[in-house]
Amino acid sequence: MNNSTLFAALTCLAAGLATGAAAQDCTAVGDAYDLDEAAVNALYACIERQMAQSYAAEGDAVGVAYRDWTVSSTRPAVAGAHDERFLQTFANDIAAPEYLKFDEERGPMPVGSVLAKESFALKDGKAKIGPLFIMTKLDEGGAPDAGNWRYDALQPNGKVMKISQSFCADCHLGWDYRDSLAYPLEEVRLGAE
Ligand code: HEC
Repeated sequence: MNNSTLFAALTCLAAGLATGAAAQDCTAVGDAYDLDEAAVNALYACIERQMAQSYAAEGDAVGVAYRDWTVSSTRPAVAGAHDERFLQTFANDIAAPEYLKFDEERGPMPVGSVLAKESFALKDGKAKIGPLFIMTKLDEGGAPDAGNWRYDALQPNGKVMKISQSFCADCHLGWDYRDSLAYPLEEVRLGAE
């Protein structure tokens, strides 16, 4: 842990103790793409509880449950898509054994698979919670134009976000040879074979 990481962690701890459950600032110096692993981990340690509480705030079934699912990466990372946010995906029990194989060419994921991806941006040195992005695998024929996935998102206040299925699907169908899955960046994938 370098000094700035330690400082960030301590600042967060102090802010957390002072404000209790209230929102606290999580900060980092530098561009999102340039942060080293320790800095990203410190940022995540600072924001993860707030983020989980935000998504759960309205009692959404996925927003409440996803933190108990299987995490698919060693830490959040910026892939570029999803507005240059840091992203980290969780897979429910149905999805996890298949998703964590990160197969390059795969058949359809099991029906009932749910993937929930938390997100936060770094704006002017301050972490800002983004949407929780969700994909749910439907029965065959459930959404023929979207690879039988339903796309959903929660706002950072836990409320359902209005989204267009085709907006999400059109990009994800670029990976139709692996059931529309984009997967986390290779260097952060967990359990890759
Ligand atoms: C411009 C392309 C693009 C668009 C549009 C897009 N995504 Fe993604 N999505 C990606 C990429 C790239 C990843 C993998 C990046 C990562 O997780 O690090 C991803 C990953 C995901 C994941 C994790 C599962 C997986 O594919 O590995 C979910 C869930 C998700 N997106 C939901 C959504 C939802 C919901 C929308 C619409 C609101 C959406 N996406 C729109 C590119 C896109």
